[in-house]
Amino acid sequence: MLFSRVCLLVVVTPSRRDLLQAVAVGGTTGIAACLGGPAEDPIVARPNGSLPAGQHEWHTGLATDADGNDVLPVHHVYLFCRLADDPTDTDRDRLERALSSLERAAAWRSTGLFCTVGYSAQYFDRFDVPLRDVELPTPAELSEEIDKFPGGQPPDLDDADLFVHLASDEAAGVLAAEAALRGDRTTFNGTTMDGSLPDRVAIVDRRSGFVAPGLPAAKQAERAVEPLPDEPIDDQAPLWMGFRAGYRASQASETEVTIDTGPFAGGTVATLETFEVAVDLWYRDHDHAGRIELMFSPGHDPATVGSVGERLGSDPDNAAAADAIHDDLERAGKVGHAQKAARARVDGRPRLLRRDVNTVDFDVPGIHFLALSQSAADYVTVRNALAADDLPLPVGAPSVNGITQYLHATHRGVYLIPPRTDRSFPRPAGIRP
Ligand code: HEM
Repeated sequence: MLFSRVCLLVVVTPSRRDLLQAVAVGGTTGIAACLGGPAEDPIVARPNGSLPAGQHEWHTGLATDADGNDVLPVHHVYLFCRLADDPTDTDRDRLERALSSLERAAAWRSTGLFCTVGYSAQYFDRFDVPLRDVELPTPAELSEEIDKFPGGQPPDLDDADLFVHLASDEAAGVLAAEAALRGDRTTFNGTTMDGSLPDRVAIVDRRSGFVAPGLPAAKQAERAVEPLPDEPIDDQAPLWMGFRAGYRASQASETEVTIDTGPFAGGTVATLETFEVAVDLWYRDHDHAGRIELMFSPGHDPATVGSVGERLGSDPDNAAAADAIHDDLERAGKVGHAQKAARARVDGRPRLLRRDVNTVDFDVPGIHFLALSQSAADYVTVRNALAADDLPLPVGAPSVNGITQYLHATHRGVYLIPPRTDRSFPRPAGIRP
């Protein structure tokens, strides 16, 4: 019902709201309808140069804001897949041809299409030999390291073999790329597809997300999901909780998260957690100054942060806040999220490259938190820094430990994203000798 209503609207006038809904709903017939029929192709940027070696290397194709911070594409689709049996060379060839077709059709940039493929420990377990030179835990192993579950529900652990991440500023771009991968369209952006996901690949889960200034406020205005606060979310905020994230100085660079040795050198490790975010309570419990204290640090002056963090330039000063964490705790009785996270830096450099986006996938406000790192252990280190078991926080006091009490992990997975040359059903020792 919802679907046909959405797509009808899109065909007539594809407003931003309609496109967001179309990406969230997805589907095959609907996708074609949303694009105006199978004959019509999305118009996304055409290829215009060579591709980086790493699938995760998006930097040169990302827009930047006025302060030089990378800006993520608006629309995101994640396809979680299982592969029956062992991959054959035919499977490899077919997947590679499909991915190459997407690259031939659209530029590797936000106005075109980014497409990355990652593989789980479960995928590699089918081979006789172990994965070489990469520590890739199962989601269960990861959970043991980062969850305490004091009375809470553990997250669902991804049991996919591979996941495909499609991202673009163009809703029609991600939808058509998805349809082309599924084999539901023979062209993408005017280019004939030379393959699709192999028949033995089953898509078992689909998630979607969005991020851009004003989108959480727009979702709130239409009450697209509940619970949301009554207080208006700032119309410049790209994320539900009201602030920008991903400043240049608080992100690891793509080079820093790239695996540098072994057969998968040039790839990276992605940890993907979905969080339900108690946005209503976050706004109910704190005014703007209180939210800055818990998101950044009690030492951050609201005047230097601005409404959504727009006055912070390219450096929110999380490192200095991390150094002041004990003083802040003593003085204010609380600590901020970013200052806790910055304690996990190595030689002053952040460990993670975060690419988190909002979602309404599970009918509550949520975040798909995708973090790239050189190893899965880096993610664990940061997660544990956020848990802050080492800090003498007031026992039983609510709202003193950053944003942790407003987040609940509902899904978790960890994936190796191989370099582009080895992205189609890699072997555990890679293609290189
Ligand atoms: C709803 C979920 C989350 C939101 C809204 C959020 C938001 C933010 C914001 C606004 C900042 C400060 C701005 C910046 O430096 O980019 C920040 C910093 C950071 N966050 Fe989060 N975050 C979330 C969850 C997480 C999780 C789950 C992790 C890791 C496991 C994490 C890791 C970090 C790191 C590493 C930093 C930067 C620390 C540094 O400067 O070294 N965040 N986050």
